[in-house]
Amino acid sequence: MSGWRDVDPAEITPEHVYRNRRAFMRGIGALAVGAGGAALSACGPMPGDGTGEMSPVWPAAEGDVPQETPNTLEQITTYNNYYEFSTDKEAPARLARGFKTEPWTVTVGGMVSKPATFAMEELLQRFPQEERTYRLRCVEGWSMVIPWLGFPLRQLLEQVEPTSQAKFVRFEAVKRPEEMPGQKSPFYAWPYVEGLRLDEAMNDLALLVTGLYGKPLPAQNGAPLRLALPWKYGFKSIKGIVKIDLVDKQPTSLWMAAAPNEYGFYANVNPDVPHPRWSQSTERRIGEVRRRRTLPFNGYAQQVADLYKGLDLRQNY
Ligand code: MTE
Repeated sequence: MSGWRDVDPAEITPEHVYRNRRAFMRGIGALAVGAGGAALSACGPMPGDGTGEMSPVWPAAEGDVPQETPNTLEQITTYNNYYEFSTDKEAPARLARGFKTEPWTVTVGGMVSKPATFAMEELLQRFPQEERTYRLRCVEGWSMVIPWLGFPLRQLLEQVEPTSQAKFVRFEAVKRPEEMPGQKSPFYAWPYVEGLRLDEAMNDLALLVTGLYGKPLPAQNGAPLRLALPWKYGFKSIKGIVKIDLVDKQPTSLWMAAAPNEYGFYANVNPDVPHPRWSQSTERRIGEVRRRRTLPFNGYAQQVADLYKGLDLRQNY
């Protein structure tokens, strides 16, 4: 792929539980093909654990941070934003424990020639799962490095054939207040909704995530399907996706509806545009003490800056 810099696997420190990529891929493939609903069980050991293979980090643009150490599985799965469960960072790991992620379907429709409802097993079977380690920068000023597993959003969109009227993609998350205590909060207009311009959605970086650290996605991280958009603030990376619609008007996200002066449609990571209540120039990597400088587009400018040529990024925050 052009523009990507290969990182020597020896440069990175992998999580000790993150062992054997290829064996896992065979494992998830076999499960997806053979065992139907079993493919998405987030618990139990996966084939391949314990053999010590490393994985390269998906690189930053040339000139940016050349290497990253992924956060630990423990950090990634115990410090979460998942308001459907709680606004507390530690609570989703506990509250999402019994959340049912099987069976699960994703309906893709709107301005497309071939609308379809996909079972999760079908998505895993149809689209080869890739590992990609991305930085995640939350609008609150913290960040992590997460080894995701997933497939490019573009592949799913191409499958349904957007019509020429389609200009935006609208994502909707699951709404199950009986299982998600945070959805009893009247402060937010559930379900969680997010959106992208169609060309942003077709960018190679936009990943539909099905796992992390070589295992099916834990519920608190958005199982069984979420987005990872590493050049945007983390709130754009919607979890628990059940519906995707191609539309001709810019969707209004949950955050735009809740606080339009604080959260815009684009939400590209931008150290030069402060949030109304705090600076965005630095961030705290979870697990570190000193703050780091935040990079434009979270370090992915080479891959995405062209999407925003001619757009005033101060107005379009
Ligand atoms: N998706 C849904 N459905 N609900 C949420 O509350 N929080 C967002 C995003 N996706 C959120 C969501 C925010 S603010 C962030 S920073 C990331 O998820 C956090 O992802 P993580 O918990 O896997 O690190």
